[in-house]
Amino acid sequence: MSFIFTHIFNVRTVIVLIFTIIYTVLWFRQKFSYWTRRGVFGPKPEFLFGHIKKVIKRKEQFFQPYYDNYFKYKHLPYIGMYSFHQPVLSIHDPDIAKLMLIKDFDYFQSRGTYAGGVGDPLAANLFNIFGRRWKILRLKMTPTFTPGKLKTMYPIVEEIASKALDYVDGLHKDDKTVNFSDFYSKYAMEIIGNVGFGVECNGFKNPDSEFYIRGHEYFDHKSHYWRLIRAFAFFAPDTFDSLKIRRISSKIENFFYGIVKSTVQYRQEHSVTRNDFLQTLIELKNENSDTEKENMECTAATHLPFTMTDVAANTMLYMIAGYETSATTGQFAAYQLALNPAVQAKAREEVLGVLAKYNGECTYEAQNEMGYLNMVLDGEF
Ligand SMILES: *[C@@H]1O[C@H](CO)[C@@H](O)[C@H](O)[C@H]1NC(C)=O
Repeated sequence: MSFIFTHIFNVRTVIVLIFTIIYTVLWFRQKFSYWTRRGVFGPKPEFLFGHIKKVIKRKEQFFQPYYDNYFKYKHLPYIGMYSFHQPVLSIHDPDIAKLMLIKDFDYFQSRGTYAGGVGDPLAANLFNIFGRRWKILRLKMTPTFTPGKLKTMYPIVEEIASKALDYVDGLHKDDKTVNFSDFYSKYAMEIIGNVGFGVECNGFKNPDSEFYIRGHEYFDHKSHYWRLIRAFAFFAPDTFDSLKIRRISSKIENFFYGIVKSTVQYRQEHSVTRNDFLQTLIELKNENSDTEKENMECTAATHLPFTMTDVAANTMLYMIAGYETSATTGQFAAYQLALNPAVQAKAREEVLGVLAKYNGECTYEAQNEMGYLNMVLDGEF
């Protein structure tokens, strides 16, 4: 009896397995016929991955498959590709791209990235959200990035710059080499923490600061599981969202949400204001509670409450947009300056000249006058 039972069980398992495999293969075949059914040409997709197998295996950058196929099929106005099972139309014709980005933008405003939800509320920031929510938030947040606003934040950056200088001077005095990769990571994270989150992480003195560690984890998680989940959320956001699983560990989410929440509460309870990015988000949050009180019949078209989650999600945006980009810009510029001593000499001469004009102080205006140095940072020397 028990023998028969095990036997039946095994046969059943095998049958279920075979059907699962057949089903999966057919399912993918159906999904991968999306473009051919519409008469759109495209390179042949690979089972499970579509065209992004090398990206998922971390052998290629995100956009490499589209880039490669662009050169291969440049003569076609567009081609149909797949990110896992999701169809992606890759536009080659600049005129069509222009239509999509300008005239018909209303139909194409979603970036197709994971826009936050149960799996990661902090992902619901200006970069990822779309539609009406995006439009309203963009309108609200545009003033936070004007030159005038940036200038008010400059003193914070200046203070961190002098700490960074002390740190490097200290290394130099002790005859230690400066690891520029490490230096610019610390420097960028310190500014993000300070301007974006209103916290001092003291990364120069304390390399184990939790902000620094969690910040790194947010970008590049060490475990394969989280890397795979992130990749899946990035490349198949709709399917990912429907699964209702977490995109980042609750440890990271709670850490950043907790920091933002307690800083916001502290500032409100003690009537503290500070010229930073977080403050502008707090003002947006307060603004909407004010208008709500004053004006109950406010038009639904322009009104959407700006919640604590919105504040936290958009400080994360500050981190996402500002950290890696600033750190690598600094790293590459330092590398290029080391390779090109003549460029370095010319940049130094300019810095000294401008500083002399501003009594040795590197003010916001002084920095903007360093045209050549800015060219070096832009990689245009
Ligand atoms: C420099 O720092 C980076 C980032 O912390 C690290 O990965 C790298 O190994 C360091 N390089 C050297 C030569 O110590």
